[in-house]
Amino acid sequence: MEDTQTMKRQLACAVDDLTPGESMTLDGGQIALHRAEDGTFFATADSCSHEKWSLGSEGEIEGSELVCPLHMARFDLASGKPLCLPATIALATYRVEIDDDQVYVVS
Ligand code: FES
Repeated sequence: MEDTQTMKRQLACAVDDLTPGESMTLDGGQIALHRAEDGTFFATADSCSHEKWSLGSEGEIEGSELVCPLHMARFDLASGKPLCLPATIALATYRVEIDDDQVYVVS
């Protein structure tokens, strides 16, 4: 259950600022916002869970998966779960809300 007392809702960008298939880094490098090829937004931890590598600036989206190009680990965009080695730890995921064509991440 989410602790709404300590949750923070932050404006990430406008919907059109991120084209499908792109990612960006937010919150001083802690969170990565991704837009899947079907236009859906997802937010995960920015750092790959294998080694430190920015998924917001270097990650690649393939369908519903996020690929870390450093050692080719793959993660499910929605759940953050690793889909192959070398990653074995899930990425934290965050709720994304769209209001008035603005994208917010709740963390
Ligand atoms: S740092 Fe991402 S797969 Fe190794």
